[in-house]
Amino acid sequence: MVPGTRVGLLGLGAYLPERVMENDEWTALVDTSDEWIRKRTGIQRRRIAADDESTVDMAAAAALGALEDSGLTARDLDEIIVATDTPEVFIPDTAAFLQARLGAPEVPAYDLGSSGCAGFVLALDVARARALSGDRKVLVVGVELLSRLMNWEDRNTCVLFGDAAGAAVVGRGENAVEILSARAGTDGTRSDILGLEVGGTRAPFSLDRARRGEHKNIVMDGRAVFREAVERMASCSTQVLDDVGVTVQDLALIVPHQANLRILEAVRDRLGATPEQLYVNVQEYGNTGSASVPVALWEARETGRIKTGDLVLLTAFGAGFHWSSMLLRF
Ligand SMILES: CC(C)(COP(=O)(O)OP(=O)(O)OC[C@H]1O[C@@H](n2cnc3c(N)ncnc32)[C@H](O)[C@@H]1OP(=O)(O)O)[C@@H](O)C(=O)NCCC(=O)NCCS
Repeated sequence: MVPGTRVGLLGLGAYLPERVMENDEWTALVDTSDEWIRKRTGIQRRRIAADDESTVDMAAAAALGALEDSGLTARDLDEIIVATDTPEVFIPDTAAFLQARLGAPEVPAYDLGSSGCAGFVLALDVARARALSGDRKVLVVGVELLSRLMNWEDRNTCVLFGDAAGAAVVGRGENAVEILSARAGTDGTRSDILGLEVGGTRAPFSLDRARRGEHKNIVMDGRAVFREAVERMASCSTQVLDDVGVTVQDLALIVPHQANLRILEAVRDRLGATPEQLYVNVQEYGNTGSASVPVALWEARETGRIKTGDLVLLTAFGAGFHWSSMLLRF
């Protein structure tokens, strides 16, 4: 390969709100327990954004980290993609606010919205295609401020989520973390197992619906999501490994969407990986949606879990039902 043609990640960044909420705090709000949450999900605590923080504040903090890590500034960007289910406003997209906040040039800036927790890895693949076709430097952000939009009285969902943002700059560079293969898919027939159904044209916002709290009701068939997640992440990951002609044993680390420890362990077992190969931080941050993979990848690198030359597998799933996997060489 000609030097400089390698396309991949030029830098990573993350932002985690300061406030830590322990499981015990939920017991005062809903009928639950620290033991139930730990046993069923592996989650021990999560971060909650401050009242004066919004989605774009968090996105900008992670983006600035990724730019600095890349040795770039916002002026160098050719495109911005934000993956989020919890946008700054309904219209326009969060990426427009982020472009203004960063002082980036008047480049295309758009959201991969409502793609659930699989959005960030899919956005990385879109960015790769854009970098390949036009030598662009693309900022990709995964950000969720789920605590602001979820129903704090629904124990089935509220204990699962946390707030965070993660970012990467994708482009050409000799030292880029190379994207070797990426796959993604959607099964729209399973859109009913996870989602937020109020606010669109099917059920527009109304005072009545708001009074009933319906705009915050995340619909979730936990068991169906669990089964689909394991099946889709495992099979999509096998595809990217096959694309490159490597095996699970060749992987230094698997960095999955941190939804639930039991899901992660089931995927690990399905793939035939070892506990040492699986990166887990769901105990600290809960499920942070599209921020979960970039935050985990950033943290794994920061804590020395990834070395130069390592093969690292990303895999995610989310409402849609969407899934996505990507193989990286550091
Ligand atoms: C949600 C999930 C943790 C539930 O775990 P589970 O082992 O499947 O538990 P079940 O659905 O069988 O529920 C068991 C009981 O716990 C109860 N329960 C649910 N949430 C609870 C909570 N926070 N505290 C205490 N009890 C709770 C349920 O009401 C149910 O009670 P019942 O048996 O009296 O009806 C699990 O299904 C899961 O993680 N699914 C994937 C969800 C996900 O990842 N969503 C986000 C995708 S991006």
